[in-house]
Amino acid sequence: MPPPIKDIRFSFGKNWSAFLETLNEERIVEAESSLKSMLGVSTLAGKSFLDIGSGSGLFSLAAKRLGATVHSFDYDADSVACTETLKTRYFPGDLSWTVEQGSILDLKFLERFSPHDVVYSWGVLHHTGQMWNALEQAASLVKPGGALFIALYNDQGLRSKFWWVIKRFILLK
Ligand SMILES: C[S@@+](CC[C@H](N)C(=O)[O-])C[C@H]1O[C@@H](n2cnc3c(N)ncnc32)[C@H](O)[C@@H]1O
Repeated sequence: MPPPIKDIRFSFGKNWSAFLETLNEERIVEAESSLKSMLGVSTLAGKSFLDIGSGSGLFSLAAKRLGATVHSFDYDADSVACTETLKTRYFPGDLSWTVEQGSILDLKFLERFSPHDVVYSWGVLHHTGQMWNALEQAASLVKPGGALFIALYNDQGLRSKFWWVIKRFILLK
């Protein structure tokens, strides 16, 4: 019998404190550039951006700096704390950036989300233990005409020297 989801999930939160110490303007600008280039835009003004599995919160921060209204959530409390720290550091008291703890697999939690212009989930959905279910939920949170922006990794196990990355930028009609 497969182990319960909780046992096979990876935890990343503890790494984020080192990240917070080294984060600088250059890395933030790089994150902004990567978002702009992957989405083919120069600004996110007037757009809503949902960051599923925000981790450090770097891409939420980048989206916020590009003008989006941002909603970040992560399953892991340490990751939520890291994203909160970025918010407090760069956008204290800003009501157009919400950070909370939650899971993409928790239908009750997702019930109150309205569809977003950009749904971003980088390196997250395959870690949930229910990738296809998570992908379906993520796609359901995209506005018609909006963008679903994901990266999935295929872990080949210990003998694998590489992690394959499957990046998808999907415009939903
Ligand atoms: C590899 S990190 C990626 C973080 C961030 N997206 C980035 O690109 O830096 C994966 C993140 O997914 C989060 N995660 C795992 N399962 C999740 C779930 N069911 N719902 C929301 N977040 C989840 C983890 O806590 C972790 O912060």
